[in-house]
Amino acid sequence: MFPFIQFLGLVLLASQTTFGYNFPYEAVQLKDSDVANNSDIAFGKPSNFGNRAKCKVLPGDANWPSVQRWAAFNSSLGGALIKGNPPASACYDGPNYDAAKCADVRERSSSSLFVMEDPTINGGQWQTGNSCPLPALPIPGFNSTPANYTCNVNGFPAYVVNATTAKHVQLAVNFARNNNIRLVIKNTGHDFLGRNTGGGSLQVWTHHLKAFEYLPSTRIREYHGMAARVGSSLQQFELHNYMAAYNITLLAPGGTTVGGLGGYMQGGGFSILTSKFGLMADQVLSLEVVTADGRFAHADPEENEDLFWAIRGGGGSTFGVVTSAVIKAYPTITITTSAFNFQTNPYRGNETTTVSVSDETFWKGIGVYFSHIVRVVDAKGIGWNYIRTTAPMRSPVFNSTRTFSFTGQVTLPGFTASEAKKFVAPLIYDLNKVGINITNPEPSYFSTYPKQAYRPNGPGDGVSGGRFGSRLFPRENLEDKDSDEFNDTMSVIRSFVEEGGYTFHSVDYSPTDEIAGYPGRDSAVNPALRNAVMHCTGFDTGSYGPDSTPAQQTANHKRLNEYIQKWRDVSPGAGAYMNEADTEEPDFQQSFYGHNYERLLRIKRRRDPWGVFYAVTGVGSEEWVVEGTNGLPTQQGRLCRVVDEE
Ligand SMILES: Cc1cc2nc3c(=O)[nH]c(=O)nc-3n(C[C@H](O)[C@H](O)[C@H](O)COP(=O)(O)OP(=O)(O)OC[C@H]3O[C@@H](n4cnc5c(N)ncnc54)[C@H](O)[C@@H]3O)c2cc1C
Ligand SMILES: *[C@@H]1O[C@H](CO)[C@@H](O)[C@H](O)[C@H]1NC(C)=O
Ligand SMILES: *[C@@H]1O[C@H](CO)[C@@H](O)[C@H](O)[C@H]1NC(C)=O
Ligand SMILES: *[C@@H]1O[C@H](CO)[C@@H](O)[C@H](O)[C@H]1NC(C)=O
Ligand SMILES: *[C@@H]1O[C@H](CO)[C@@H](O)[C@H](O)[C@H]1NC(C)=O
Ligand SMILES: *[C@@H]1O[C@H](CO)[C@@H](O)[C@H](O)[C@H]1NC(C)=O
Ligand SMILES: *[C@@H]1O[C@H](CO)[C@@H](O)[C@H](O)[C@H]1NC(C)=O
Ligand SMILES: *[C@@H]1O[C@H](CO)[C@@H](O)[C@H](O)[C@H]1NC(C)=O
Ligand SMILES: *[C@@H]1O[C@H](CO)[C@@H](O)[C@H](O)[C@H]1NC(C)=O
Ligand SMILES: *[C@@H]1O[C@H](CO)[C@@H](O)[C@H](O)[C@H]1NC(C)=O
Repeated sequence: MFPFIQFLGLVLLASQTTFGYNFPYEAVQLKDSDVANNSDIAFGKPSNFGNRAKCKVLPGDANWPSVQRWAAFNSSLGGALIKGNPPASACYDGPNYDAAKCADVRERSSSSLFVMEDPTINGGQWQTGNSCPLPALPIPGFNSTPANYTCNVNGFPAYVVNATTAKHVQLAVNFARNNNIRLVIKNTGHDFLGRNTGGGSLQVWTHHLKAFEYLPSTRIREYHGMAARVGSSLQQFELHNYMAAYNITLLAPGGTTVGGLGGYMQGGGFSILTSKFGLMADQVLSLEVVTADGRFAHADPEENEDLFWAIRGGGGSTFGVVTSAVIKAYPTITITTSAFNFQTNPYRGNETTTVSVSDETFWKGIGVYFSHIVRVVDAKGIGWNYIRTTAPMRSPVFNSTRTFSFTGQVTLPGFTASEAKKFVAPLIYDLNKVGINITNPEPSYFSTYPKQAYRPNGPGDGVSGGRFGSRLFPRENLEDKDSDEFNDTMSVIRSFVEEGGYTFHSVDYSPTDEIAGYPGRDSAVNPALRNAVMHCTGFDTGSYGPDSTPAQQTANHKRLNEYIQKWRDVSPGAGAYMNEADTEEPDFQQSFYGHNYERLLRIKRRRDPWGVFYAVTGVGSEEWVVEGTNGLPTQQGRLCRVVDEE
């Protein structure tokens, strides 16, 4: 008997350290005894899907919980409930007017930390229907709110749970499900598509789920090696702090304030190490997650393997709320970056860093750069570039004096500076051959990843209110510079900038199945990412803010989409990267999820028969529509089922 008990004790210990929760904040859980006779916070039962009402309730509806029930909910949360007040409401006549607070809002709103630290708002304004615009353009002397700006707090979450324990998350999921309230999840608020917000919703704010533990040697199923436990809200700059402290490498986003394990990982998540180590989703060895029934679950390749498969690449805010993960860690790695640029005549900009050439030579140079991309990604490197024009899209003047500029980089993990210079030489040689007279730049050399990426506290990522198009161009389009596919690809990039007047950006990487390894290759990551060598984004900034009418926004998007459609036409069957894409991507199921969509939808229906989790373009989102948005893809209206199931 005694040895048996000892054995049991060992098993329990092992399951707590390796297969239980990761952090003390997850030990605080909602128990059956806590909910006993409180139907507001009861767990979901698979046999009881609730009333499956056509629409979610909004503040003011008869079914919206009373002030007393919200107060009782707040008590069960230990006081962690916050009223959803957009900070800019201090700038408008009404109960929130506060001149001093408004001045503070104006001052801080240009920093992305402002969005991160506020419980209610997200990074974009059109996503909330420009409901309470920040009149905070950092223009000196600009101190008044335009007369036609209005503040409608109903465009924002009604309440926010400031989650610091698993129990907080469970309570929020249960309260929302039991009361048929729209639930949204905000981590950093960076999402470009509007997947992190919803008018009149209950929001779970995961921003304070921060913790870290380095595991020098661990075994999780078939993986044996270095790893780390990570709280789901750690941001890029925090991950880099830990990398420096423990002398290790972890994957992390490019943007300093982007979250590592929220929407970034759940949609794939690329970094400058992605051709070397794969996507963020590929790093995950296990997950802790609160599911739609309100239960706290562990998921890994053998336990809750459906969730484990779906959450890694199948999109945020769909299958559960991730509270932490165990991810792979690596020894430190060197990084080099070779940066160069060129532009067309007439000269604008910096003579010491740029050569200027004719338009035809410029576009030949663009072709040369992209003809080297497959070689770069096969060496486990990354291409990164912008192509811009001085005659922006809204300028009617497309004449011979406008200029085009190219800013490009080749980043190579694991190289020394001299190896990198040698590697880049053939690219520079080919550029010289077409008449772009640049010299092979001395690479910047970093002995570790955090030295390359780290910027203290991470401010600097502007929050964008623009809209995107995305395309993941497959290897076939770029591997042969003499092919029609290559030529067509260059033509559509050129027309995007030259005729469209838009800014083009690409990050070129190759997270193949082989690079993903175990367990990454068996995940819901978009198959188009596995075969991609070039991720292109096209921006239309500033055309969707509070100064544009719904009709203008619709027209602006229509024009952008016509140009992105050309990218789709020359890459049939490929896809788009869901985290940096158009929220109105046509056939998003194919573009964002590929052949994984059917399996993801089955898992979604089994795990969330209530429809607790909704995000625009998420798996199963085609069954829902946000009403009353003037035809715009915004999140401030009422969320309803497309088919009335009553
Ligand atoms: C400045 C900037 C730089 C970027 N750089 C990169 C880059 O280098 N590589 C790259 O791949 N992408 C990059 N992105 C895109 C980025 O991947 C997306 O914006 C992503 O949605 C951000 O995730 P988040 O959790 O930080 O943001 P949020 O907006 O808070 O969340 C995004 C989505 O995930 C859901 N979600 C968040 N946390 C959880 C959770 N714990 N459980 C379940 N669902 C959750 C939200 O509900 C929402 O649907 C960048 C974005 C910005 C703004
Ligand atoms: C359940 O309800 C009864 C009667 O209303 C009350 O006395 C009891 O304290 C409640 N139990 C819990 C756990 O809240
Ligand atoms: C929740 O309770 C806390 C502590 O009592 C309080 O400070 C907070 O204002 C309450 N939240 C709401 C929305 O009433
Ligand atoms: C959220 O909770 C954290 C941790 O308890 C606290 O520091 C922070 O002030 C809270 N934020 C708000 C806006 O209440
Ligand atoms: C950090 O790790 C690298 C690679 O394992 C090793 O070469 C180096 O000596 C370590 N540096 C420190 C300060 O521990
Ligand atoms: C020109 O480039 C150099 C070197 O990068 C830089 O130091 C300088 O500030 C730039 N000048 C302008 C006007 O941009
Ligand atoms: C050509 O376009 C530029 C802006 O790109 C503008 O400044 C210039 O005046 C235009 N020239 C003519 C002749 O229209
Ligand atoms: C190329 O640039 C170098 C110096 O950067 C210069 O010496 C040379 O003359 C240039 N060649 C041509 C063909 O412009
Ligand atoms: C690309 O194709 C066009 C016609 O479709 C042709 O005019 C052009 O010369 C081709 N370019 C290259 C580099 O082959
Ligand atoms: C608001 O007013 C400004 C100027 O007064 C105008 O340019 C803008 O189009 C208006 N915005 C909307 C959305 O009507």
